[in-house]
Amino acid sequence: MINKNYLKLPGSYLFANIGRKVNEYSQANPDKRIIRLGIGDVSLPLAPAIIKALHEGADEMGNAASFHGYPDYEGYDFLREAIIANDFKARGVEIGMDEVFVNDGAKCDSAALGEIFSTDIKVAVCDPVYPVYVDSNALAGRAGDYQEEKQYWSNLIYMPCVESNGFAPELPAERPDVIYLCFPNNPTGATVTKAQLQEWVDYANREGSVIIYDAAYEAYISEEDVPHSIYECEGAKECAIEMRSFSKNAGFTGMRLGFTIVPKALVRDGVSLNQLWLKHQETTFNGVSYVVQKAGAAVYTPEGKQQTSEQVAYYMNNAKYIREGLIAAGFEASGGVNAPYVWLKTPQGMNSWQFFDYLLENANVVGTPGSGFGPHGEGYFRLTGFGNYENTVEAIKRIQAL
Ligand SMILES: Cc1ncc(COP(=O)(O)O)c(C=O)c1O
Repeated sequence: MINKNYLKLPGSYLFANIGRKVNEYSQANPDKRIIRLGIGDVSLPLAPAIIKALHEGADEMGNAASFHGYPDYEGYDFLREAIIANDFKARGVEIGMDEVFVNDGAKCDSAALGEIFSTDIKVAVCDPVYPVYVDSNALAGRAGDYQEEKQYWSNLIYMPCVESNGFAPELPAERPDVIYLCFPNNPTGATVTKAQLQEWVDYANREGSVIIYDAAYEAYISEEDVPHSIYECEGAKECAIEMRSFSKNAGFTGMRLGFTIVPKALVRDGVSLNQLWLKHQETTFNGVSYVVQKAGAAVYTPEGKQQTSEQVAYYMNNAKYIREGLIAAGFEASGGVNAPYVWLKTPQGMNSWQFFDYLLENANVVGTPGSGFGPHGEGYFRLTGFGNYENTVEAIKRIQAL
């Protein structure tokens, strides 16, 4: 009766495991001040322009004349217009109003998008990877069986992202129907150039694959030749869906807002994926609250842009401090240039969890074991710039003193 694929998901969730270990340690050592550099959550409060919009939206909801009930499935026009103008038109990309689907964050859609594809397709993921792509396909029955000793799902195509390829995936030997790509990347912080991404677009168009492109960290890009949207590549509207989030560029992790672009030109089996996704949203989704969408539109005002870019710069300054501090201490570390994530090689042959324990016990610093993101994350460790600056400096000092 039940979906048995749920039983195949391996035991305890990565962040639950980390939480348990940290709790046990702090209970046994109440005098130690633990610094958390493992989190993927933002720590700065919402910017003033966003708070102002939230207050205004709340007042409007309290007035019969300006009250809003159920929102549109695709999002309010005012937000979609701001998205199209600022995120796409400003970069020379034309996106239509009916190609934008506002949602309550990228996580839901990165899992739900699978529902418009058949359950017997072949899916390719990067390794290491944001775990939702793998786990949602496992629940849908596409991943096959989990092989504990190898930490692999039998039916997925894994694309290793390792030191030798600059943590950027290579075109797979076996043809996938759906390919998940995420740049800038969580957890490695790696990116690809526009020319490299164009190769993926050309491959997908040649093979008839669909790329699900996660650009949740687009606001952190600092280098010129790194694309902000996959639609900067020629032919991408014929093969790619793009996901965006307000979580990391504007601190909306607790507000919940994002959007997905499904171009009308994306057709498979003679069917428009845009029409399928509209049907999906109309059937299973009731939109994002007016107040949150109004706050989202405030991100695109001149004040909103200024204030949120200062927040991104704050986190990136932390990330730079982490990366440079680790390299100065003799670690091999990458990322932290176009993403708030720093990816470091564990020293002295320690595996990811051994290094987690070592760092917790000897520096009282918490990070995320790379093996939690996939088999090729083993031997690596993720630190993030999302904490506060003073704690970040203190944590790096402690690591340097080890
Ligand atoms: C790669 C990636 N995609 C999506 C998300 C989820 O974003 P949201 O908060 O919009 O659901 C995250 C969150 O950490 C992420 O790292």
